[in-house]
Amino acid sequence: MCGIAGFFGHQVCEDILINFLEKLEYRGYDSSGIAVKNKNNINLVKGTYKINELKEVVKTKTTNSCGIAHTRWATHGKANKDNSHPHYSANKVWFAVHNGIIENYASLKNKLINCNIKFSSETDSEVIPQLLEYNNVKNIYEFIDTINMLKGAYAICAFNNFDNSLYLAKYKNPLYIAEFNNEFFIASDPICFNEITKNYYTLNDNEFCIVSDNKLCFYNNKHKKINKKQNLLNSKYLKCSKENYSTFMEKEINEIPKVLKNILTEYKKNNYFEHITSDFLDVKRVVIIGCGTAYHSGLIGAKYLESVLNIPISVELASEFLCGNPIINNTTSYIFVSQSGETADTINALNLVKNKCKNTIAITNVTYSTIAQNVDIVLPVFAGPEIAVASTKAYNAQLLVFYLFSEYLKNFKLETKFFNKINGEIKKINIATLYHFDKLTKIISNFDSLFILGKFKDYFTALEASLKIREITYSNCSALPCGELKHGTLALVSNKTTCIIISTNKLLHSKTISAINEIKARLGKIVLVTNSVESFKDCSLIDYLIKLPNVDENLIDLVSVIPFQLFALQLSLTKKINPDKPRNLAKSVTVE
Ligand code: AGP
Ligand code: GLU
Repeated sequence: MCGIAGFFGHQVCEDILINFLEKLEYRGYDSSGIAVKNKNNINLVKGTYKINELKEVVKTKTTNSCGIAHTRWATHGKANKDNSHPHYSANKVWFAVHNGIIENYASLKNKLINCNIKFSSETDSEVIPQLLEYNNVKNIYEFIDTINMLKGAYAICAFNNFDNSLYLAKYKNPLYIAEFNNEFFIASDPICFNEITKNYYTLNDNEFCIVSDNKLCFYNNKHKKINKKQNLLNSKYLKCSKENYSTFMEKEINEIPKVLKNILTEYKKNNYFEHITSDFLDVKRVVIIGCGTAYHSGLIGAKYLESVLNIPISVELASEFLCGNPIINNTTSYIFVSQSGETADTINALNLVKNKCKNTIAITNVTYSTIAQNVDIVLPVFAGPEIAVASTKAYNAQLLVFYLFSEYLKNFKLETKFFNKINGEIKKINIATLYHFDKLTKIISNFDSLFILGKFKDYFTALEASLKIREITYSNCSALPCGELKHGTLALVSNKTTCIIISTNKLLHSKTISAINEIKARLGKIVLVTNSVESFKDCSLIDYLIKLPNVDENLIDLVSVIPFQLFALQLSLTKKINPDKPRNLAKSVTVE
């Protein structure tokens, strides 16, 4: 997941690299490091620093030079100084930063150790510079041959102590390069280039690049030079400052109404569904695939699509889909949901079905991402950069795109009248009215014994809500369908338990009331989240009510999750946890 950066040019190398790391910190924040060439010296600083701390300890200001930098999410070896990147070879000939996992590192490392090479870290990544030195790599061709020995996934940026070049390699993990004013910029995410240039190159799998003497040369893994075209960064939705909010997460939740409006504006302007033609209706099955929050939006999205398509729609966790032998055929369409478009499990699932199915569609926030580049049809969600590790606005945005998609399938068009209607509904969302934390703390005595329940789509909202609470508050919170309580979990309910029940479907309120009674009979506390207070007016068993705005029943799922996003955020802050960077996690999960 790590973020890697490189720079070759006349400006202060340390400043550019640290600025890039600040933008890449969402990818990992266990430790960080930087190595810059200064004539014949190499200045290396690394350790368990957050990027603002790294900025303080890096004292050098090197111009007319090149350097590499890294912000880590540990896969192999603890988060400590030795395991931080950049890594270097035994005689400090080669220095490298790496994003990914070298699967055959153990056998390579053993071979090198048998040749008396001393390793200084527990990481898989260290084999890269060690192997480059051991193989006496002197040029790009030898670099390619050595990198071809690696198995697994990698984005690599390396330099050595004998020539003035940066060496790049990519397989499965992203790497981008920009050129501006005879300077070269390298990063795991082109968002880093936004203030410099809008043009950038995407390095594809098994491609290599050498940056030297004011030029870039690209190669394939057979040593053949290749020409590459530049991509254009669409900077409209790339602003990523915290503005006046104290955390990105709070800012991102508060952006939800604006994001939903952006989607309507963009989808009204451009028909992103144009490649979804009536033959889409001939498919016999739709499979939706994602991880975490994206999976949860897929669960609700499936219900929207099911109501129109009338065919089986299954929703799969990407990591589970990859186990066993999924049936893939050309009568099935696959929809991949991913905020980042870089989630390794989802990419692997896409690679498995690609060219074997009817078509592949991505619902994603990042249109230059690996997933977006590899599917037949991209449905963008226009949420803007989502920096907080906990996904919020992207989820609400994915739901709206699913909903527009299902409405589009009815007549293969969306009328202005329809957009205006949805716009009117979205205007009813007032985030400020959905903060309930202070009052809830008076009801909830034990945050670790919290259940969130719902029926049908509300159960999926409960799944998303409980993930959010676990992820950024470190409290245990389970979600389950109301009807399942009596099949086991009721055993846990006591006067120390709070059950938050979501009920947004008119037809199901009576069933919700049964669940409320079952819980109350065991002295559990009840918090009810509903848009239909009327339906519960005779129910005196509710300890606290969260009233949702009265939006169209098809759009209620976009709203019912918001009180939970806010609740998780506030609980996290109360527990002195940084909700933007919860422990052990990273935003973009680019490892399996
Ligand atoms: C959500 O809060 C999580 N951080 C996580 O579950 C995330 O949704 C998941 O890793 C999938 O990411 P993606 O949408 O970028 O593919
Ligand atoms: N495997 C490397 C490490 O643990 C890189 C991790 C990553 O890219 O997530 O340092």
